[in-house]
Amino acid sequence: MKVLVGVTGGIAAYKAAELVRELQRGGAEVQVLMTPAAEKFITPLTLAALSGKPVLTSVWQETAVGDRFEIEHIQIAQDADVMVIAPATANTLAKLAHGLADDMVTTTALAATCPLVIAPAMNVHMWRHAATQANLAVLQERGVRFVAPESGELACGMVGEGRLAEPVTIAESVLAAAGHSQQMAGEVVLITAGGTREPIDPVRFLANRSSGRMGMALAEEALSRGAEVLYITAAKDVPVSPRCRSFRVNTAQEMHAALLAELPRATAVFMAAAVSDYRVEAVAEQKRKKTERMTLELVANPDILRDVVQHRKPSTTVIGFAAETERVLEEGRRKLVSKAVDAIFANDVSGVDSGFEVDRNAGMLLTHAEEIPLAAANKRSIAQQLLSALPAIRNAANAKTWWAHQDSNLEPKDYESSALTD
Ligand SMILES: Cc1cc2nc3c(=O)[nH]c(=O)nc-3n(C[C@H](O)[C@H](O)[C@H](O)COP(=O)(O)O)c2cc1C
Repeated sequence: MKVLVGVTGGIAAYKAAELVRELQRGGAEVQVLMTPAAEKFITPLTLAALSGKPVLTSVWQETAVGDRFEIEHIQIAQDADVMVIAPATANTLAKLAHGLADDMVTTTALAATCPLVIAPAMNVHMWRHAATQANLAVLQERGVRFVAPESGELACGMVGEGRLAEPVTIAESVLAAAGHSQQMAGEVVLITAGGTREPIDPVRFLANRSSGRMGMALAEEALSRGAEVLYITAAKDVPVSPRCRSFRVNTAQEMHAALLAELPRATAVFMAAAVSDYRVEAVAEQKRKKTERMTLELVANPDILRDVVQHRKPSTTVIGFAAETERVLEEGRRKLVSKAVDAIFANDVSGVDSGFEVDRNAGMLLTHAEEIPLAAANKRSIAQQLLSALPAIRNAANAKTWWAHQDSNLEPKDYESSALTD
């Protein structure tokens, strides 16, 4: 397991030496990176001796591999299973929150796609400052894991929160995050996202309010757990992670075709897209002229969810999304049965702070065994809960299939004869 350890310029930088040791004890191969400020607190030589590798302190170091030139921070970022920044200064937190990349630690963190763990350490007032807390919130929202600083006597002589967590605690989190990054290795997760567009003429279309953010949060979380992601998106504004195999579509029919083409490889399907139930029957070739009244004849689109369930392998898990504005739970329960899916995530999209076009969501995950409420949270956190529920969804679906099979094997006379012998 390859671990990147970024060290920044705080008084606790010396504890990075112990962290390197703890990670090695856990079986990690460690590469240390330092900011120029960190070098004022601990020498690269100490960390190089402990890690057994030269410490990277500048993006301007050139590396030749055979006759190839490699851009070091990109290469190590791609190879890593997990990156940790400990101690992380207030300054580095601010840079990370805003995407700045002007030293080896922040540049590598920006290029890394593996899980990122941050252990901040600073004076209590720096820690409590609104700017630091806002930066933390931004990073947390993006899925960064934090090992919170501890309370106690600080190097500045004050008492309060801000002391770097113990290296052994940080190492535990880092090793757990690396394990997490393999949790879904071997899974091929097919995700649909965004709202489809049904053309009226070359200029206009019928659409809906789905932004694609829920689908992207699912994709990013699945990627961070080591899954391969096939991503079919009708969203225009949410950037697609380059690590997904992505397919851009506009209409429900295009989404239907792409889904059925990719379905054979999928081990799990999350249908987060909002698909138009109807399309315009006769799409005008030229822009329609303005009239007092216009009638559009609509025809039904294929039922994508039903077709996915019909064409999937028995081992492929299908999770449908039900975006409702009323009787959310009843509608979710009805769809769980009528669409024969393994689970439904029923969410209310009538509110202003969850559902469509916002970063938060909430709802009820309905499986064949239980109903799990997912409280309002950012979409990444909802995605984490949905992916973590996969084993439970599969168990419930398998149990249901087993019972259905038992029932179909029992003739009425079996019940009678067993009643007689009892
Ligand atoms: C003696 C001393 C101790 C410091 N300790 C901390 C600290 O624990 N946490 C922190 O956020 N900044 C600390 N600073 C301030 C940082 O070194 C400073 O913000 C620096 O620009 C951080 O750079 P970096 O984030 O690129 O490593 C300290 C500065 C000095 C001079």
